[in-house]
Amino acid sequence: MAAIWYQCVAERAELIDLRVTASCRRQGLGKQLLWASLGALPSVTQVDLEVRDSNIAARALYRSLSFQETGRRRDYYALGDGREDAVLMTLALSSCA
Ligand SMILES: CC(C)(COP(=O)(O)OP(=O)(O)OC[C@H]1O[C@@H](n2cnc3c(N)ncnc32)[C@H](O)[C@@H]1OP(=O)(O)O)[C@@H](O)C(=O)NCCC(=O)NCCS
Repeated sequence: MAAIWYQCVAERAELIDLRVTASCRRQGLGKQLLWASLGALPSVTQVDLEVRDSNIAARALYRSLSFQETGRRRDYYALGDGREDAVLMTLALSSCA
């Protein structure tokens, strides 16, 4: 129904992917999974990710958990005949370790 992947190196984590089965979206599952998974990364102080500019749902979800947009990679992804930017987002976590 829902899955999340991180790549962690020391106190930095990169959110590689988060997906919720299409029929289960807009029920709070993605937000709950992301929030719960952050709590399972006790020594991590910063989470980074990149997301397609056109991915309104994911960008809104990340913003709702206080991820900040920190930059862009211009024309990073293929989009039909053209290209689109990758939006870089970061969340600073306070470590309790
Ligand atoms: C992005 C994704 C994981 C969101 O999962 P979800 O379970 O539907 O999200 P939630 O129901 O937890 O939504 C939490 C908040 O995100 C935002 N959001 C989610 N879907 C949205 C949409 N289609 N349009 C606008 N905002 C949206 C809203 O702020 C929402 O809060 P609200 O429902 O109170 O308005 C899901 O759409 C998905 O799997 N997409 C395909 C894979 C993908 O693009 N993953 C991201 C890769 S970087």
